[in-house]
Amino acid sequence: DSKKRIFSGIQPTGILHLGNYLGAIENWVRLQDEYDSVLYSIVDLHSITVPQDPAVLRQSILDMTAVLLACGINPEKSILFQQSQVSEHTQLSWILSCMVRLPRLQHLHQWKAKTTKQKHDGTGGLLTYPVLQAADILLYKSTHVPVGEDQVQHMELVQDLAEGFNKKYGEFFPVPKSILTSMKKVKSLRDPSAKMSKSDPDKLATVRITDSPEEIVQKFRKAVTDFTSEVTYDPAGRAGVSNMVAVHAAVTGLSVEEVVRRSAGMDTAHYKLAVADAVIEKFAPIKREIEKLKLDKDHLEKVLQIGSAKAKELAYPVCQEVKKLKHF
Ligand code: ADP
Ligand code: NA
Repeated sequence: DSKKRIFSGIQPTGILHLGNYLGAIENWVRLQDEYDSVLYSIVDLHSITVPQDPAVLRQSILDMTAVLLACGINPEKSILFQQSQVSEHTQLSWILSCMVRLPRLQHLHQWKAKTTKQKHDGTGGLLTYPVLQAADILLYKSTHVPVGEDQVQHMELVQDLAEGFNKKYGEFFPVPKSILTSMKKVKSLRDPSAKMSKSDPDKLATVRITDSPEEIVQKFRKAVTDFTSEVTYDPAGRAGVSNMVAVHAAVTGLSVEEVVRRSAGMDTAHYKLAVADAVIEKFAPIKREIEKLKLDKDHLEKVLQIGSAKAKELAYPVCQEVKKLKHF
């Protein structure tokens, strides 16, 4: 459908993990073939809401580019670009931030979680982070946004901002819809009541796409299960083992039922190693491709430059129209 446009973003900081891969990036790769107009942004401006070393951040942007390309993001099918290289993001963000009341931002779960968990006040940028997200999406008049469940509240803000703008200035922005991924959240290997996250201080909890096979085996060996040795799928009653089954199904493409059927007679200790093997097998070709891509820094920079120029071409006229409506 030519009227549909997909937008999604990922921060360059932190190495992509199994949760990001199964919950987001695999879906991104699929959507490239399902939609004509698809934009994926490496959202470096979002990363600087917390302190970053500029040189390290630069390297992270190139590394994330290599990871996304290796995972199957194809610049011929989607526009892959660096957010900060399209200045219209910050221009629209400012205009939108002047349309949102402070308490609305202060009441968002993520703001509350980030400022209480990290025991700091948070920057102005951290507070207005969801407004920049709204600008990212609306700048391209995006119609569909693949997001995780954790982003549903931010998407409501985006939708409200689009509607608020349209009410004031006439129909302008499509009200974007969320595409929730069918993949359930991948859980922490150490605490199956929490999601796998790159910020988990327990290094054994998170499987990164660049981990060696030995590291992956070690992490799965230490994964928390329970005192029943049989492999069953019961997310409410047996979160740890069920997480293994869900990951196993996701990386093999088999159904949960089939995975459970095939593991009949195996105890969970052995089963964890079987899942580790399946993850290693899934990541192996991606890892090889990442290593190859990282050798050619010029190519990675070129990919981002070309992508950012394409994004700019779409963003500029929309931003001009917004300014015209504001009589700027
Ligand atoms: P993290 O929590 O590790 O910082 P992000 O918040 O950067 O991850 O998430 C980037 C994308 O990956 C989002 O679309 C998010 O929904 C998805 N994602 C993150 N963690 C998981 C997980 N454990 N399982 C499934 N999807 C996840
Ligand atoms: Na496409």
